[in-house]
Amino acid sequence: MTRTQVGIVGAGPAGLMLGHLLHLRGIDSVIVEDRTKEHVIERVRAGVLEQGSVDLMNEVGVGDRLRAEGMRHDGIFIAFEGQRHRIDMAHLTGGRAITIYGQNEVVKDLIAAREASGRPLHFEAADVRVHDLASDQPRLTFQHAGTGYEVRCDFIAGCDGFHGICRPSIPAGHLRIYEREYPFAWLGILANAPPSSPELVYSLHDRGFALFSMRSHDVTRLYLQCDPDEDIAAWPDERIWKELRTRLATRDGWAPVEGEITQKGVTPMRSFVAEPMHYGRLYLAGDAAHIVPPTGAKGLNLAMADVWRLARAFGEFFETGQRGPLDGYSRQGLRRTWRAQRFSWWMTSMLHHAADENAFDHKRQIAELEYLVSSEAAMTSLAENYVGVPLA
Ligand code: FAD
Ligand code: DHB
Repeated sequence: MTRTQVGIVGAGPAGLMLGHLLHLRGIDSVIVEDRTKEHVIERVRAGVLEQGSVDLMNEVGVGDRLRAEGMRHDGIFIAFEGQRHRIDMAHLTGGRAITIYGQNEVVKDLIAAREASGRPLHFEAADVRVHDLASDQPRLTFQHAGTGYEVRCDFIAGCDGFHGICRPSIPAGHLRIYEREYPFAWLGILANAPPSSPELVYSLHDRGFALFSMRSHDVTRLYLQCDPDEDIAAWPDERIWKELRTRLATRDGWAPVEGEITQKGVTPMRSFVAEPMHYGRLYLAGDAAHIVPPTGAKGLNLAMADVWRLARAFGEFFETGQRGPLDGYSRQGLRRTWRAQRFSWWMTSMLHHAADENAFDHKRQIAELEYLVSSEAAMTSLAENYVGVPLA
């Protein structure tokens, strides 16, 4: 039996950033992850960092590569009916912007910081379980390299994503779940091709949504709306490029530059909120507590905001014995979550075709897009949500 102050389940962005923030406050933690280090680093996921997430990475000393390699974008394009329209987010928000920097790069930087701290981070842990959550001394148990471990904790942080074990460990009846599934998914690719637009292009076409994004000056990231049960084997490279060209090309001659596809996969889309974000001494953060559809690029940023607040709350408890910030953690987190849920749902419904929609719905979507790109008020509303509200 060993002891720590905070047992952290999951080494995604939430668990790793929480471990780092606690380390900076001199608070001990043990991070337990069930996958390999390589898998965690290579998992291709989000790519858009809000200003607040960028500022956080810099403030806590893990921003060197982000500053050197991240791509600051002051605007985005919204495309429909063959035309691209730019939304100048920096101009509309008093200078705030987003930065393109892959989630796997964020995770790489945070793993390096953890390893430098010398505090424990166990990859490939099996049979991870949490116990005695309603007591003052919850326990974390797991198997690692053939040995059984038991860690007595003051708190446990469930940072183990949507499919983790922490949220299901909360006894029935303590959580209220709010959920919506969407009748479509995203087929995403990475390609060795230089970005042909300096900023992201979100497009609604008669054949459905498509998104042009990037990872670097040589790598493009693209997505297209597909069916939730889409078989990736039915999408040879040429079919993907043909569909992307059809949905993204605009009348001014713009189209994505094509190149070798190095990765492809299908991501389901869901909105999900579990309330409250804690039970006893277990606190949930990131995807373990909530999921947004990716259209607003909010998932990773919400995870960062959760753990920033959770680290402050744990800090206050250990330094002064005050429980106030811990007690307010869920209420404040849910306010931010619901704001992101509303925005992500709105972006998703404005830019995708659902099978049960008719010609009226399509006309309404075009009217909404036309209003968006012609009204400074509407563009400002999108911009301030897209760049993200400051951490609070
Ligand atoms: P995760 O990143 O899921 O990390 C949880 C960690 O816990 C994982 O490392 C997992 O292996 C580990 N874990 C799970 N179970 C256990 C267990 N029993 N024991 C120990 N460890 C465990 N967001 C965007 O904004 N844009 C995107 O394009 C985008 N694409 C996505 C694609 C996919 C396939 C997925 C799943 C998500 C995507 N997201 C995207 C959302 C974004 O990546 C997440 O919001 C973000 O990863 C949340 O971070 P997290 O640390 O809370 O959870
Ligand atoms: C990316 C992902 C998103 O969900 C999004 O809205 C914009 C960009 C990306 O992976 O680059």
